[in-house]
Amino acid sequence: MMRRLAILAATAGLTAAGHADAQDGATIYKRCAACHLANGAGVPGAFPPLKTDVRKLAATPAGRRYLALVVIRGVSGPITVEGKAYRGMMPAQAGLNDAQVAAVLNHVVRGGSAKAFTPKEIAGYRAGSAALNSAAVGRLQPK
Ligand code: HEC
Repeated sequence: MMRRLAILAATAGLTAAGHADAQDGATIYKRCAACHLANGAGVPGAFPPLKTDVRKLAATPAGRRYLALVVIRGVSGPITVEGKAYRGMMPAQAGLNDAQVAAVLNHVVRGGSAKAFTPKEIAGYRAGSAALNSAAVGRLQPK
């Protein structure tokens, strides 16, 4: 009995640490939901929706880089999301590693047609991004 419990616990730990799976993304998204709401609808004028525009962004190289840097470095406006202007400020989501950034972005763009974000891809965007502040990330939003 004890041994079986230990094996179960070890297996659970491996899953949590080793895979950026859909479930991780939903869990990590809880910190985003404080502003963007649980369903991603956002709050008009304050917190943009994470719906159709993020799925479009995930379909282009420049958009994918922008999405990753928004999470890693934060973003401040002016940006336009679903036709509405935002001039707010999203703080960098510090403490998320590459696998966690990939997982939460995959959660946000789920249902779209873009290929999945991988930890390796995120690491590439993170490299050399330390000098970017939130305003610089805002200027990277593809028009
Ligand atoms: C404290 C509130 C807050 C939290 C927490 C937060 N955001 Fe944001 N987010 C914002 C604001 C505000 C903006 C718009 C900034 C502006 O007006 O320039 C934004 C913008 C964005 C954008 C740009 C959308 C676009 O179409 O250009 C993305 C993507 C995004 N957030 C994803 C996330 C993800 C993923 C998380 C969680 C890991 C998260 N945000 C957590 C407040 C937040």
